[in-house]
Amino acid sequence: MDELLCIDKMAATSAASFSAGSTVAFGTKASQLPQSKPSALRFKSQKSLATFSGLKAATFVKCVSESSFLGKESSAALRGSVVPKAQKSSQKSQYHVNPLASYKVAILGAAGGIGQPLALLVKMSPLVSALHLYDIANVKGVAADISHCNTPAQVLDFTGASELPNSLKGVDVVVIPAGVPRKPGMTRDDLFNINASIVKNLVEAVADNCPDAFIHIISNPVNSTVPIAAEILKKKGVYDPKKLFGVTTLDVVRANTFVAQKKNLKLIDVDVPVVGGHAGITILPLLSKTNPSVSFTDEEVQELTVRIQNAGTEVGEERAGAGSATLSMAYAAARFVESSLRALDGDADVYECSYVQSDLTELPFFASRVKLGRKGVEAFISSDLQGLTTFEQEALEALKPELKASIEKGIASAQKQPVGA
Ligand SMILES: NC(=O)c1ccc[n+]([C@@H]2O[C@H](COP(=O)([O-])OP(=O)(O)OC[C@H]3O[C@@H](n4cnc5c(N)ncnc54)[C@H](O)[C@@H]3O)[C@@H](O)[C@H]2O)c1
Repeated sequence: MDELLCIDKMAATSAASFSAGSTVAFGTKASQLPQSKPSALRFKSQKSLATFSGLKAATFVKCVSESSFLGKESSAALRGSVVPKAQKSSQKSQYHVNPLASYKVAILGAAGGIGQPLALLVKMSPLVSALHLYDIANVKGVAADISHCNTPAQVLDFTGASELPNSLKGVDVVVIPAGVPRKPGMTRDDLFNINASIVKNLVEAVADNCPDAFIHIISNPVNSTVPIAAEILKKKGVYDPKKLFGVTTLDVVRANTFVAQKKNLKLIDVDVPVVGGHAGITILPLLSKTNPSVSFTDEEVQELTVRIQNAGTEVGEERAGAGSATLSMAYAAARFVESSLRALDGDADVYECSYVQSDLTELPFFASRVKLGRKGVEAFISSDLQGLTTFEQEALEALKPELKASIEKGIASAQKQPVGA
C-alpha cells in the first residue's frame, strides 16, 4: 500500500487545520486511513549549513529555516496553513537544509520568458548541485550569465534535440516551461496544438532518460498538457501518477497576494487553497478556507474570484501584448521546485496545491492541496473540499464540464500520436 500521512485528530485545533480522515493517501479512501502521528513529529535532523543563504552574502550560516530564497516566514506560512497549531509549535524549525543535499534540476525551455528567471531562482537554492538548462536555441548565453552567480549549483547548457537526453540524465526534478505563451486574444485552448506536441516530445525524453524524476508541467494549457504527459508516460511504461504535477502555484500566489491586499493582511501570512484546474473558471480559489480565517462579503468573493481567474490577462494587457506573466510565474515555479526538493530531502511538512491525478472528485485530474514526500504525492488534503460555501460548491460543479473536456482532449490527442522509440 502507498505510504500514508495521518494527522493526530486530538491535535487538530486551528480553523484551517485538518484531522485524520481529511488527508487521503494516493489511491486510498479516507476511511481506510490508520491513526498515527505524522512523521514530521519524529524528524530530528539538526545540521548547520556552511554555505550561502538565499540572497544574503556568502557566510557561515546556521540554517534554521526550511529553505533558501523562500525564507523562513514564507515556509512557515505555507506549513501553517495546513498544520494544526498544537503541532506547529512542536515542529518549528525541525527541518534543516541538509548540507549534503545534492539534487539535479533540469529546466526545458530555459531560454524563455519564464525559463530565464526560473533558472536564476533555482540557481539560488542550496539544495541544488546541478542545474541543466535546455532549449532549442539561445540557452548558452543564459547559462553563462547565471553560472557567474557564486552559489553552489553547477550550471550546464544543452541546445537542440541531440543534447536533450544528456540534459536529463540523473535529474531529480524536471521543469517544463517550453512552448508558446498565450498572446492577447488567444485562448488557452489556442495554444493546444503547438504546446501539446512540444510537451509530448519532451516527456518522451524524460521517460527515456530520467523516468523516476518529479515532472513539473508549466506549459499551457496545463488542464490538457498534464493528461497528455500522463498518456505518454503510460505508453512508455513508466507512469508514476505521484510524480507528475501541473504547476498551479501561480494561482495560489496570486490568490494570497490579492486577498492580503484586499484585507490589509501581511502578505507572507496569507494562504488560500486554489483547486480545480488552471484556466478561467476552472481556477477555483477557496476563499472560505483562507488561512488566517477572514470573512468576505459576497461582492468581495465574486470580485476576488474573477480577478484570480483572470490575473494572466491582467498582466498581458499591462504588458501591452509584449508577453504574459513570466516573472511571477518563475517565482511560483521556483517555489514549487523548492518544495519538491525539500520533500525529496525528507522534510515531512511540505504542502502545495498542484494539478495531479486525483480521486478527490469524479475527474481523473484535479488541482488540490497535496502533501509531498520523497515519492511524490503522499496524500490529498480532502478537507479543503468539505464544508464549501454555496458559491464555492456551485463554482466547483460549474467548472467540472470544462475541465473534463480539457482532460479528454489531452488524452485523445496523446492517444492519437505514435510514441517515439
Ligand atoms: N502554468 C502556469 O501558471 C503558466 C503561467 C504563465 C505561462 N505559462 C506557460 O508557460 C509556457 C512558456 O511561457 P513563456 O512566457 O516562458 O514563453 P516563451 O516563448 O518566452 O519561452 C518559451 C521557451 O520555450 C522554448 N521552446 C519552444 N519549443 C521548445 C522545445 N521543443 N524544446 C525546448 N524548448 C522549447 C522556446 O525556445 C522559448 O525559449 C507557455 O506555454 C505559457 O502559456 C504557464
